[in-house]
Amino acid sequence: MNITLARPKQKLDLLILPVFKESEIKQALKQNKIDLPSESFSADFKKELGDTLVVYSQNDPKRILLVGLGEKKSFEAQSWRIAIESSVNLIKSLKLSAVGLALPQKLFGTLKDFIELTGFAVAYSSYEFEEYKKEKKVNLPKEFIILQNEQSTLKKTLEQGVIIGTAANASKDLSNHPANVATPTHLADHALKAAKQFNFTCKVLGSKEIQNEGMGLLTAVSAGSEEPAKFIILEYGNTKKPPVVLVGKGLTFDSGGISIKPSEKMEEMKYDMSGGAVVLGVFEAVAKLKLPIHLVGLIPSSENLVSGKAVKPGDIIKSHSGETVEIINTDAEGRLVLADALSFANKHYKPRMILDFATLTGAVSVALGDQYTGYFSNTKAFVKDFQKASEKMSEKFWELPLAEEYQTQMKSSVADIKNVGEHHNGGVITAALFLKHFVGTTPWIHFDTGGTSWTTSNKSFAKAGSTGWGVYLTVEFLRQLK
Ligand code: BES
Ligand code: MN
Ligand code: ZN
Repeated sequence: MNITLARPKQKLDLLILPVFKESEIKQALKQNKIDLPSESFSADFKKELGDTLVVYSQNDPKRILLVGLGEKKSFEAQSWRIAIESSVNLIKSLKLSAVGLALPQKLFGTLKDFIELTGFAVAYSSYEFEEYKKEKKVNLPKEFIILQNEQSTLKKTLEQGVIIGTAANASKDLSNHPANVATPTHLADHALKAAKQFNFTCKVLGSKEIQNEGMGLLTAVSAGSEEPAKFIILEYGNTKKPPVVLVGKGLTFDSGGISIKPSEKMEEMKYDMSGGAVVLGVFEAVAKLKLPIHLVGLIPSSENLVSGKAVKPGDIIKSHSGETVEIINTDAEGRLVLADALSFANKHYKPRMILDFATLTGAVSVALGDQYTGYFSNTKAFVKDFQKASEKMSEKFWELPLAEEYQTQMKSSVADIKNVGEHHNGGVITAALFLKHFVGTTPWIHFDTGGTSWTTSNKSFAKAGSTGWGVYLTVEFLRQLK
């Protein structure tokens, strides 16, 4: 689907017409020079956010898709994404070749930001995961035209939005693939291919090299699996500057290991590599946008399975940092592989800062649900920048405390630290504190996306499955970084 900006000279098969709750349909039609008897259908269209109604006309365009925007005063990034998601979802089931989108009567932010968000949202919503289905549901139009006078600067802005939306889709796609396909080797191959295609570098460490590097925790988590672990290293940009290091949890399947999970919903643990997929999505976008930064990406990737070779509760493992970890629960594996990656980051780079993305706990979704990611940091310096970025595309997060009081929960009597705290006592926080232990003094932000990387039912703004949460937010943050 070609997403462009123009006053259409060609014929449209369908025009998407957004309408605020307060607006008269009649007027909205008139403004767009559409002559239709709105009295006959206005009762069928409530104009609530995301409501849709297709009406047919004898003139061109033959179809008008009315989409509700809800109330004017609450119009923001989230609502615009919802309106676009429901419109694009609807046109997928129609066979059309050219679709137009009229802009709302009232925008928010600058026109530039609005156009970028529109490009992002249209690209984001066009994604559907149906690779394994014989019958494909989606028929995307060839042309998707946002009705706005073409200006060269806005055209570039739109392209940037589409680039970020496409990168978010690439990230979603990796997480949506089942674990029998998306193995650590598959993730590494994808990274190598993406590096060639988008112009960054990628080096992959195999299990021997991981061991030689001293990453005992990653090695231990991977011990129960036949699939070899991979440690994926990405690098982009001006290597003279200290890099921003992105770390992403890359568990391609998490059964819990010997501390095995209940079978209900275990199939969802194929998305336990979503953090790694976010890092790959950010790299794709940053490289295509040619941002003037130095970026390093680290993805420790493994399966967490059960076998005679698997790591056991009570085992004591030497980490990359040299400290020993008593494994109390083999299901708390994310923090183990991340600990080695964080310590690797500090040893080999002098990071300006580290950002990590991980589906680290189930506890975070108890606290914050599937709309807000947990945000932890050892510095206050960046939270305002992230908040500002977040408003732009509505990828939401909530700051949680790195409560030092809870560090004692992880005292081990036989090793330097153990890998879990007390049951039902701030599990999302103790997981973050475990990571902090391996971060040192480097400025660091941890995103626990256990609730937000995946959604179980079709929502008004996202389809069931992987969400790509964090790709746009991080790109926007990196773009604003001084
Ligand atoms: N990958 C899971 C966390 C998770 C669970 C994310 C469900 C999204 C949905 C992680 O490895 C895990 O199993 N965490 C445990 C930690 C516990 C053993 C201390 C958890 O949250 O139950
Ligand atoms: Mn686990
Ligand atoms: Zn996990």
